[in-house]
Amino acid sequence: MDGSDPQLVGTFRQAMRRVASTVNIITICVDGQPMGITATAMSSLSMDPPSLLVCINRATALHNSLEDVSHFGVNVLHADQQHLAAMFADREQKNLRFAEGWELDCTRPPRLEAAQASLLCRRIDHHPFGTHSIFIGVVEHVEVRDDIDPLLYLNGQYGRASI
Ligand SMILES: Cc1cc2nc3c(=O)[nH]c(=O)nc-3n(C[C@H](O)[C@H](O)[C@H](O)COP(=O)(O)O)c2cc1C
Repeated sequence: MDGSDPQLVGTFRQAMRRVASTVNIITICVDGQPMGITATAMSSLSMDPPSLLVCINRATALHNSLEDVSHFGVNVLHADQQHLAAMFADREQKNLRFAEGWELDCTRPPRLEAAQASLLCRRIDHHPFGTHSIFIGVVEHVEVRDDIDPLLYLNGQYGRASI
């Protein structure tokens, strides 16, 4: 955090704790090996073309490979998939991550079968910024689960919407 005012960083963190996010697992397949990471930093970018962005920490196992792949997957988690959010954020559970519930043929990024939504994205650009890189994907294929009940992350806790 060179050059950042620690007090401002603290209040920024407090502000972000008040922003509700969906929880997503970003996936790629490299040399037949599935990789994935829990990420809340995902946003739709444009409808024309349909596109989104994800922000990935450069210290994560996935980051460097994500710079090279042609496609990545965004699996928006359902409220009943909190255990997957924890698993894909915990390096100790790396070997368990793709044990069940995934389409894993590796001709495309792993797709979580019961995801709230899954989006296949062609990675077209990335920009390093601070500790992270911003990856832009153009959406090529979408599948959605009918019941709308996404897993949310707010104030450091998992929850669900009541609207
Ligand atoms: C709720 C939650 C949201 C997260 N969001 C992001 C994110 O948007 N980008 C990111 O790079 N890491 C994010 N992380 C951290 C990664 O999931 C975590 O560092 C993960 O262990 C990295 O994968 P690796 O262990 O295979 O390197 C988040 C973690 C949690 C629990």
